[in-house]
Amino acid sequence: MTSRVALVTGGTGGIGTAICRYLAGLGHKVATNYRSEAKAKAWQDEQRKAGFEFTLVMGDVADPASAQALVQEVEKQLGPIDILVNNAGITRDTTFHKMNHAQWQDVIATNLGSCFNVTRQVIDGMRARKWGRIVQISSVNGQKGQYGQANYAAAKAGMHGFTISLALENAKFGITVNTVSPGYVGTDMVMAVPEDVRNKIIAQIPVGRLGEPGEIAYAVGFLVDDKAAWITGANISINGGQYMGW
Ligand code: CAA
Repeated sequence: MTSRVALVTGGTGGIGTAICRYLAGLGHKVATNYRSEAKAKAWQDEQRKAGFEFTLVMGDVADPASAQALVQEVEKQLGPIDILVNNAGITRDTTFHKMNHAQWQDVIATNLGSCFNVTRQVIDGMRARKWGRIVQISSVNGQKGQYGQANYAAAKAGMHGFTISLALENAKFGITVNTVSPGYVGTDMVMAVPEDVRNKIIAQIPVGRLGEPGEIAYAVGFLVDDKAAWITGANISINGGQYMGW
């Protein structure tokens, strides 16, 4: 298998860490960004103890200039980015009638704006080299909506609109663009949902449990493979059966 350079945004989070590890396990060189130095260093120590060496670069993907500097630094250290996983995401859950503009804007900028900011920096290189893999990590809640998540669901649904347009524009350049839509995975983000609310959600998952981060990473590894060259513009739902729309 060809070893490539992969950038996974938000790689220090629950699903992001699993994606970084899975891609490293496939033989790729993996970089991610961080915003908090202290959290990043602790994360890197933990990964090293587990036998993983990742390239960590400071960068706020919600900010276009910072995203540009991030990509430039990763490419300086590792070489051209062939695999991009737009995984960085935050929540600011509240019902819409209580939502303020900052809660709307932060989620749109981080979850959806980042797709523009980072992808815009790697797309020319991928087109020139005639190979690329871009994966958006969206959410089941972008597919079905969720009480308290008008901001998050709008951003996550927008990510798939982004995917299918980019897939069209770049198909002739050996670049595939796909979305993975996880359901409720046992990460810090989901564990921050009030316990009573979370238990009601788990009760709606036919498989009967939260997902594991590795179960999302597995699909990303599948999509970035050379053999997945004919899969583009797809949205892979991984949600334990919670939502089966198609
Ligand atoms: N369906 C119907 N009614 C609901 C509801 C639902 N799903 N959720 C809440 N309500 C109702 C409550 O029963 C309550 O009704 P009453 O006032 O009649 O008792 C009312 O809404 C509460 O509304 P409030 O505006 O007062 O809301 P709140 O301040 O109590 O908080 C909330 C509401 C923020 C939405 C909270 O319920 C919550 O955190 N929900 C979970 C949201 C969620 O799933 N987030 C996912 C985070 S993880 C993630 O995003 C990863 C991923 O991709 C899956």
